[in-house]
Amino acid sequence: MRRRRAAVAVGLCASFLLGSLLNALLAPGPDPPPPPAPAQAAALTSGPPGAAAAAIGELEEQIRARYEEVQRYSRGPGAGRPERRLMDLAPPAPPAPPAPPAPPAPPAPRLGCAALRNVSGARFLGSGYTKAVYRARLPGGAAVALKTVDSGGHDVGSCVRQFGARRDCYRLAAHKLVKEMVLLERLAHPNVLQLYGYCYQDSEDAPSALTAITELGAPVEMIQLLQASWEDRFRICLSLVRLLHHLAHSPLGSVTLLDFRPRQFVLVAGELKVTDLDDASVGEAPCNSHQHCRMEFPARNFSLSCVRGRCLGMNEKRNLYNAYRFFFTYLLPHSAPPSLRPLLDEIVNATGELLWGVDETWRQLEHVLQLYQSGAYLQNTTAAPSAEYRRLPETAIPADDYRCWPSHRHGGCVLSVFSVREAVAVCESHTQCRAFVMTNRTTWTGRQLVFFKAGWTQVIPDPNGVTYVRASG
Ligand SMILES: *[C@@H]1O[C@H](CO)[C@@H](O)[C@H](O)[C@H]1NC(C)=O
Ligand SMILES: *[C@@H]1O[C@H](CO)[C@@H](O)[C@H](O)[C@H]1NC(C)=O
Ligand SMILES: *[C@@H]1O[C@H](CO)[C@@H](O)[C@H](O)[C@H]1NC(C)=O
Ligand SMILES: *[C@@H]1O[C@H](CO)[C@@H](O)[C@H](O)[C@H]1NC(C)=O
Ligand SMILES: *[C@@H]1O[C@H](CO)[C@@H](O)[C@H](O)[C@H]1NC(C)=O
Repeated sequence: MRRRRAAVAVGLCASFLLGSLLNALLAPGPDPPPPPAPAQAAALTSGPPGAAAAAIGELEEQIRARYEEVQRYSRGPGAGRPERRLMDLAPPAPPAPPAPPAPPAPPAPRLGCAALRNVSGARFLGSGYTKAVYRARLPGGAAVALKTVDSGGHDVGSCVRQFGARRDCYRLAAHKLVKEMVLLERLAHPNVLQLYGYCYQDSEDAPSALTAITELGAPVEMIQLLQASWEDRFRICLSLVRLLHHLAHSPLGSVTLLDFRPRQFVLVAGELKVTDLDDASVGEAPCNSHQHCRMEFPARNFSLSCVRGRCLGMNEKRNLYNAYRFFFTYLLPHSAPPSLRPLLDEIVNATGELLWGVDETWRQLEHVLQLYQSGAYLQNTTAAPSAEYRRLPETAIPADDYRCWPSHRHGGCVLSVFSVREAVAVCESHTQCRAFVMTNRTTWTGRQLVFFKAGWTQVIPDPNGVTYVRASG
């Protein structure tokens, strides 16, 4: 398996070197259909001619449907020149409507095939049904993710088994990647993976290759997140609700992510970003009656209303319930500051019951952030300190570590605090704690990192530290 992947990666790099220009591979086939490729010819001869022709017709129909979907997303309000550039992949096949007036300023130059000509360290990261993802380093040193259609993947494989037309099956799968690129661009947001560009090339001796170039993220590992600090886990939940708020009010309308598993997301510098958008659905589901507006989940079913032929609020509610069942319920309440627990429990409960819409859920999580960041959450909780601490400016304690959970560092107890007062309260609540060192390093919310210590056998000079040692009690 590893060997096969390595071979694919090398093939990928080799095809970058070809640098040929875009052509109409992604176009729906013109009518009448083009002469069959060898694989198609094989399919045509292996069955009754009528049936094979019908099958090819069906494949063309599927490609056309995907092509039209991509067209829909790349037009409409807010569509700018970058989307039109992506759609240059498209054929001149259907008579083009009169071109809209050219926008005044061209967009900033983006990465294209040239950027991929000299990538180094290409490494396979993973694959799903349709795509394979690699990481690579651009000549300038920046690491990026490269997404390509996985020719050995499930989507292309099952299509080839059904239709025997490898090239057209690749086109079908490539439309999914184009859809994803268009959506990444149209839905641009701090919590949507950034699309840097793409490369499309086609040649006789190499299979045509469409490659999307995006920001690089780390996979979301739930086990790791469960061991992270509440502050970091809260950040994931806040990123997610900001994303859902954006998707509910996107320029394309309300967008739902049909596949919401954690693997659809990545972490970039601690922020959650959605990366997989090929299973996104735009616009509310059509309906004739309330029966059509049922949402079924393994543990819960919901019925929504059919209003003027659309399931009202279905997209944002599906997103929200998925956020509850895959993220909030695991990440939000545990080891949260006690004074925030009632609020967090309410948020988890309300999303699990779909009592609130996305807007209210978003407001509530932003409120939690504000309470946490401002220190307001401490007001009702910190009792007067029962012990005196001696302040030793510009010092630190190199040893005397003890472990606590969840610490920012392994093998020690490093936590973030809002103030010295909170650090004292934390130290008082740990039986081992005899001292702590305030640092000038901060977390994403601006809180200070503090090393809690079991003693002060050695105190050393450190311009960035302020040591507090317990003097009594
Ligand atoms: C590619 O990288 C190699 C090694 O860094 C360098 O010698 C070569 O000139 C580069 N080629 C291009 C086309 O940038
Ligand atoms: C949801 O609905 C399906 C089909 O109507 C049913 O089989 C399932 O038991 C329901 N699940 C729950 C948790 O109610
Ligand atoms: C929400 O709270 C109610 C009342 O306490 C409880 O019955 C229900 O199971 C909770 N729902 C979820 C999803 O936590
Ligand atoms: C602190 O207590 C006041 C008054 O009881 C209350 O209004 C406020 O919401 C509480 N703050 C927190 C963060 O619990
Ligand atoms: C901490 O303070 C020192 C100067 O005392 C400064 O050089 C350093 O950049 C600061 N670090 C951070 C993370 O602010």
